[in-house]
Amino acid sequence: MNVREFMRLCDSIVKTVCDVYVGDSLIVKKMLAACLSNGNVLFEDYPGLGKTLLAKVFAKSIGAEYNRIQFTPDLLPADITGTKVYRGGEFELIKGPIFTHVLLADEINRSPPKTQSALLEAMEEKQVTIEGETHTLELPFFVIATQNPVEQEGTYPLPEAQLDRFMLRLCPGYPSSVEEEMEILSRRIEWMKDDPTEDISPCVTISEFRAMQEFVESSIYVSKSILRYISELVRATRKHEYVDVGSSPRGGLALLKVTRAIAAMDGRDYVVPDDVKLVAVDALAHRIILKVERAVEGIRPEVVVEDVLKEVEVPKGDEEGRGFSR
Ligand SMILES: Nc1ncnc2c1ncn2[C@@H]1O[C@H](COP(=O)(O)OP(=O)(O)O)[C@@H](O)[C@H]1O
Ligand SMILES: [Mg+2]
Repeated sequence: MNVREFMRLCDSIVKTVCDVYVGDSLIVKKMLAACLSNGNVLFEDYPGLGKTLLAKVFAKSIGAEYNRIQFTPDLLPADITGTKVYRGGEFELIKGPIFTHVLLADEINRSPPKTQSALLEAMEEKQVTIEGETHTLELPFFVIATQNPVEQEGTYPLPEAQLDRFMLRLCPGYPSSVEEEMEILSRRIEWMKDDPTEDISPCVTISEFRAMQEFVESSIYVSKSILRYISELVRATRKHEYVDVGSSPRGGLALLKVTRAIAAMDGRDYVVPDDVKLVAVDALAHRIILKVERAVEGIRPEVVVEDVLKEVEVPKGDEEGRGFSR
């Protein structure tokens, strides 16, 4: 895989998704960037904004095997991971829907934390333990989850530990203009059915997708000054006056991984500060816990990340006077 081939495949994935999803293609690029490093993505927004649609089209476009779990209040951990049943004199493993490449965890915050946490081990370690036996998942594996904002009724907010496992949290938002709103309606007339994802054929094979992941991991250089920049941003979230608990080091790692994919999608084999700025809010905001008095004032953790992006000095190149490339 070379950079030209990589970009061509990325473009065709983004185009396939945007032929169905109406909105900014940047959100699709960010989702792709996270998944290229086996990162989990959380879509959080009000109902009816195309979250499930985005997740489904994306899974189909990369040719991945995918399973969808609708989270409900009575869903049990074993409904996700699987179980052992006694059959013909011995215990047989019945694998749950988690044994797949892309797991769509739809409306994840409608289940209680115990059920949500059945995903933790798979999300972080790419393995599943069922009754004491550990099974390794085949890669790629990542979770694309959707949830309604936590203030909504009948929801269990994701615990911090669970949130931290998501590489990015993305909010699709409402259509930005009457033209976009109309486009959603006119596409519906064109499709003549409510599930436009049925007819999508994948733009890459699963082995091509693996090769793309491998390309990002092996070919994209990150200079020391970028590592310092990311570290300083993460540390600054911890010192911000509105913050009770700032971003974990896992947040810095997430930012690092996504920026490499973003750089590659831009046709570069090295990361620049703009790559970091592009995804800093999406990678860090959901890991920040505000002081109670700030949260009740309605302040959002996104503000903290925007503040630290203004505060922290942007590097101009490496310490040895080189740019950001190798
Ligand atoms: N931006 C969008 N582009 C295309 N279709 C959309 C968009 N937003 C909503 N829809 C349509 O509205 C309906 C609800 O979308 P869905 O993905 O189920 O919402 P959510 O999961 O956010 O509640 C679907 O039929 C979907 O096709
Ligand atoms: Mg939905």
